[in-house]
Amino acid sequence: MQGSARPAIFGAAALSLLCACGDERPPLAPPGETEALAGADAARGRNLVAGQGCVACHTIPGMRGPLSSVGPPLDNLGRRAYLGGSLPNTPANLVRWLLDPPSVNPGTAMPKAGLTPAEAADIAAFLLGRP
Ligand code: HEC
Repeated sequence: MQGSARPAIFGAAALSLLCACGDERPPLAPPGETEALAGADAARGRNLVAGQGCVACHTIPGMRGPLSSVGPPLDNLGRRAYLGGSLPNTPANLVRWLLDPPSVNPGTAMPKAGLTPAEAADIAAFLLGRP
């Protein structure tokens, strides 16, 4: 009796694990990598994004702008595997990308905005949905 109940329980556990993999995937950016965004402020980042005209090329959740898709939409950025199609998406690499996209990918259409490292970290915190 006991022997036959066990596989059923394991089966149910495995099934619930599979279900957990649905929409609630964890962000790909390692949550432990916090140094790159130490002291960063997502609210400041949001203001910077609004002031820098990023919406001219990107659709950004919660921000009004032209229906433009020069670059990819910036929603759910934490779940993206690569930035600019080649740079592994980590908080440090996101800051690097924001500081100087052409240094990562010389052919990219995204210009260097002239951000300071602190501003890039603020924007990264906003885009990654950090508090
Ligand atoms: C002139 C248009 C333009 C402007 C302005 C612009 N971007 Fe981009 N951005 C792009 C393009 C095009 C890409 C895709 C790059 C590639 O694949 O080489 C991109 C890629 C990105 C990526 C990587 C996303 C991914 O999935 O690869 C991020 C993050 C990003 N931009 C953020 C910003 C922010 C923040 C601003 C404002 C400071 C901004 N961009 C301003 C055109 C622009």
